[in-house]
Amino acid sequence: MTAAHETDWDDVQLHVVTGKGGTGKSTVAAALALALASRGKTVLLCEVEGRQGIAQMFDVPPLPYEERRIASGPSEGGDLYALAIDPESALLEYLSMYYRLGRAGKALDRFGVIDFATTIAPGVRDVLLTGKVYEAANRNKRSKNAREYDAIVLDAPPTGRIAQFLNVNSELAGLAKVGPIRSQADTVMTLLRSKRTAVHLVTVLEDMPVQETADGIHELRKAGLPVGGVVINLVRSKELDDDARDDALNGELPREHVVKVLERAGIKATEPLVDGLLGEAPAHAERRALEDEQRERIVALQVPTYELPRLPDGVDLGGLYELAADLCEQGMS
Ligand SMILES: Nc1ncnc2c1ncn2[C@@H]1O[C@H](COP(=O)(O)OP(=O)(O)OP(=O)(O)O)[C@@H](O)[C@H]1O
Ligand SMILES: [Mg+2]
Repeated sequence: MTAAHETDWDDVQLHVVTGKGGTGKSTVAAALALALASRGKTVLLCEVEGRQGIAQMFDVPPLPYEERRIASGPSEGGDLYALAIDPESALLEYLSMYYRLGRAGKALDRFGVIDFATTIAPGVRDVLLTGKVYEAANRNKRSKNAREYDAIVLDAPPTGRIAQFLNVNSELAGLAKVGPIRSQADTVMTLLRSKRTAVHLVTVLEDMPVQETADGIHELRKAGLPVGGVVINLVRSKELDDDARDDALNGELPREHVVKVLERAGIKATEPLVDGLLGEAPAHAERRALEDEQRERIVALQVPTYELPRLPDGVDLGGLYELAADLCEQGMS
């Protein structure tokens, strides 16, 4: 169920979240999933790297290979489910679905066949992971006992590996180039390349992550994968407006400006405090100038952008809801 509300991604069902390591992919994926749930959607948040990041963020026990309800949206009651996908379980499920292997599948597992298939055969691992996401995205009323999701959010591998991860077709080797794995890969690719999918990139306002974002967008486009938005995470609040920033850069920030800002914030502008701030101002302004430069590079990429603040006390569950509300407000969901 979707609220009568326009967002930048109304037609998108599968949101893939990537970005440079440590920039906040998992945090943003979780916040986006909550934001979609807050719009009344039934949402599935998936992780594929075996790190149990979702369980940690939502403060629940480690997730099994089974969809678990972990939260409801802040209003309107959309439910959020989570799933940790690992290639071994996905392969066993796949075998039991296609070959009705049942217990025989478990035996394969014991003999190490599953390990072999998921670690040795290049590309098969990724087909299994994305294949499970595909399965969850394609349920309908006829799918027995299966929950239908309005939206799926995937906490995906980092930018450096994302095109390869999603571009499962070209990665298959040997036996997997023909037969059922191949046709599974083809079906998955059809979803991943369609308008139902958007690959969002998370970044921070620093040179390397922004460069990786630009490169990532280029790679995705080259692979025919749909680029979504850029989420700028960990944004510091703007203590100085642009004019004040320029003054501070030149060491010419007027004393009265600092006094005025402090008074507006209800802080007593004592002489040592004002002196201290004036002393720090050039360094702060310099950092701001660098960040503004990175922001311009991101704008030049010409995709929708969203900003999330650096939460001063880190991200707890309350913080996730705050970030979710920010994404809603900016039209990401
Ligand atoms: N907006 C924010 N404000 C404050 N802390 C944040 C914010 N976003 C992320 N963090 C913190 O930064 C750290 C890294 O975030 P996260 O785990 O989401 O990044 P990641 O890109 O998924 O990392 P990895 O590459 O290791 O998977 C975490 O401790 C997280 O709580
Ligand atoms: Mg992560």
